Amino acid sequence: MARDTFYTAVDMGTNKVASIVARVGTEGELKILGTGIVPSQGMHKGRIESIEEAQVAVRSSLEEAQRYIGHGVVAGVYVGVSGTHITCLNTKETVDHLADVDDISTQLLDKLIQSSFPQVTRTQEVVHIIPIGYDVDGMSGVRNPVGLHGRQVQVEAHVVLGDAATLKNTVKAVEASRISVKSLVLQSLASAEVTLTGDEREMGTVLADIGGGTTDVIIYRQGNPWYSAIIPVGGDHLTRDLSVAMRTPFYVAEEMKLKWGHAMPEMVKVDDEVVIPSFEGQPRRIVQRRELSEPLEARIVELLKQILLKMRQAGLRQFPAGGLVLTGGCAELPGFRELAQKTLGGPVRIGYPRGIAGLPTQLQKPAYSAGVGLLLWGIKHQGEKRPYRNGERTLWGNKPLMRWFKRGSKNKKAKVEVG
Ligand SMILES: Nc1ncnc2c1ncn2[C@@H]1O[C@H](COP(=O)(O)OP(=O)(O)OP(=O)(O)O)[C@@H](O)[C@H]1O
Ligand SMILES: [Mg+2]
Repeated sequence: MARDTFYTAVDMGTNKVASIVARVGTEGELKILGTGIVPSQGMHKGRIESIEEAQVAVRSSLEEAQRYIGHGVVAGVYVGVSGTHITCLNTKETVDHLADVDDISTQLLDKLIQSSFPQVTRTQEVVHIIPIGYDVDGMSGVRNPVGLHGRQVQVEAHVVLGDAATLKNTVKAVEASRISVKSLVLQSLASAEVTLTGDEREMGTVLADIGGGTTDVIIYRQGNPWYSAIIPVGGDHLTRDLSVAMRTPFYVAEEMKLKWGHAMPEMVKVDDEVVIPSFEGQPRRIVQRRELSEPLEARIVELLKQILLKMRQAGLRQFPAGGLVLTGGCAELPGFRELAQKTLGGPVRIGYPRGIAGLPTQLQKPAYSAGVGLLLWGIKHQGEKRPYRNGERTLWGNKPLMRWFKRGSKNKKAKVEVG
């Protein structure tokens, strides 16, 4: 008899840790059972700086999520990863002389994908190998070659690598709560799960999840991820610039940004004035809202240029038809979409978590795209066996390459440095 299945996602952001527990019923219906959102600690630019602090934040987030649902249902969590230690590359792997093979089987493709495993250094670990296209006897763009007759099959895969120690720390931060990690998932892939439509993925779209410490960029082409990168700049940089410009502490600047910040000062009324509250003995001050928004605009334009640079590195000269989708907490800043459109051209929209009936209002915000997306990723990829245990490499990482696979033109795109 079919049973309910439970999924848990932990998004360890630079600003907040969000744990979400959900149940998928026998009819396939998804219900969010609990959410735990707590301020993050011990994280810097998507990377763990203090394991003890990170463990405390994750624990309190998981406890909050479980408050009303009991402890039995949380196991095997999907955890997001980000940070400039992440790199990506696209590989090609070929098998030929298939004369003795009747037709192309799922097993053959599995082996082919496993042999796409790149040569990694001892300090690196593979986070994802995602098949993005097949070529059968020279015919490219084959979506699913299973069942076709062919003498030669080639698979192209998008490979995401991370620093082994950093990934191990992420696992350690979660497993300290006596909960095992089922899989680590690139945060931008998770965000794409819930923000991009099928059409956007097909047409090609650039997605940027702009959080507190990082901007996670992923580019889709023909339905699949094609390029991913992490820019170590996020909303905290806007706040820091504002705190310097307004000569206020960070927490005052953060409050000002959230209350009055605008990405396009020219859209703000000329006579709009705001009050900088008194702090640490300083008297309150009145400033023009336009003046307050200027440093935000300057930093955002800088960030948009970096996104453009990543597009260029991916080989794109112009925006794909699906344009640019902005998500993450920072995308909520008024005027962000308009500024992106003006600076970059091409269609721009703000991405919200979508496609889940009954998603609590609290989670219907760009800041929760990665967290909600982790759940959907888990549901889609539940069959995958990716044993992440402290100190162990993945099974795939240890597998020898099969002799009968001919190496194709590896590293079609040069390894892409991020940052
Ligand atoms: N309404 C808003 N207007 C402007 N900025 C906002 C708004 N809401 C959140 N932010 C900013 O978004 C950032 C936090 O975003 P988010 O919660 O997506 O980050 P995170 O996932 O914790 O961090 P990261 O993904 O970088 O590790 C902060 O800089 C915050 O100031
Ligand atoms: Mg985030």
